Amino acid sequence: MASDAPILELRDITVKFGDETVYRDMSFSVREGEFLCILGPSGCGKSTSLRLIGDLLDVQEGTVLVEGLPPREAWHKLAYVFQSPRLAPWRTALANVTLGMELRFDRTGKAEREATAKRYLSLVGLAADMHKYPGMLSGGERQRVSIARALAVNPDIILMDEPFSALDLNTRRRLRSELISIWRETGKTIVFVTHDIDEALTLADRILLLSNKPTRVLEVMSLDEERPRALDTAPTLRARRDQLVAMFEELERNAPEENTQGKELAS
Ligand SMILES: Nc1ncnc2c1ncn2[C@@H]1O[C@H](COP(=O)(O)OP(=O)(O)OP(=O)(O)O)[C@@H](O)[C@H]1O
Ligand SMILES: [Mg+2]
Repeated sequence: MASDAPILELRDITVKFGDETVYRDMSFSVREGEFLCILGPSGCGKSTSLRLIGDLLDVQEGTVLVEGLPPREAWHKLAYVFQSPRLAPWRTALANVTLGMELRFDRTGKAEREATAKRYLSLVGLAADMHKYPGMLSGGERQRVSIARALAVNPDIILMDEPFSALDLNTRRRLRSELISIWRETGKTIVFVTHDIDEALTLADRILLLSNKPTRVLEVMSLDEERPRALDTAPTLRARRDQLVAMFEELERNAPEENTQGKELAS
């Protein structure tokens, strides 16, 4: 595809669940090879964006295009990484990665599939652990398996929905920096959902800040700071963090009443 055409485009979309409007006339696009973070308060529709792109949900109005195609025709160009790794417990790490390939109707032979799976498990640092079952792996290792599984189907675009939020702080930091190396090495387009401002500032080429419902894009922030990024010392990043924190606080002050109640009930 032409390098200046967006690889993903959501144009003037409206999404409703019953009476509730989640998105109204929302638009954004993603460039090929870009690392885009979608940031926003709980319940604003971050996961919904990924579900639209991944053909798990339809829009009521507007257009979603994946490499110029409707999502239904483009599912094979995408892979998902969820908050929980969703591995088959009776399969080893290696067999979980090859299962992902089999489910995509990979026509290569078993030996070739295993070789590909091993290559990606090595890339995520699991060369020595690929014969372990999920129950024998740590939370961070399990999430690495799910990243290898996503890479092994050779997607153009990886959709990641808060993939590190269930992990401890150090593991989260390590996986973020590994993800940046993998992204650089593979040239994939990544759409990464988070509600963590520092995570978005560490990872993104561009951050989309979403509003409360009915949701639209409140702010687009382009970041050209070198990685790895030192959020506490780089003055430009500190200024961006202050700006995002202030905007988030404003969103929370103006959150619809039922949102706040929902959050209290959930916690
Ligand atoms: N299938 C559904 N039926 C009804 N409402 C839904 C459905 N899916 C999502 N919603 C609502 O749409 C809104 C957006 O949901 P979404 O999961 O995209 O939020 P989110 O930004 O990912 O939130 P979080 O940060 O908590 O994961 C929420 O208010 C949610 O209750
Ligand atoms: Mg979500």
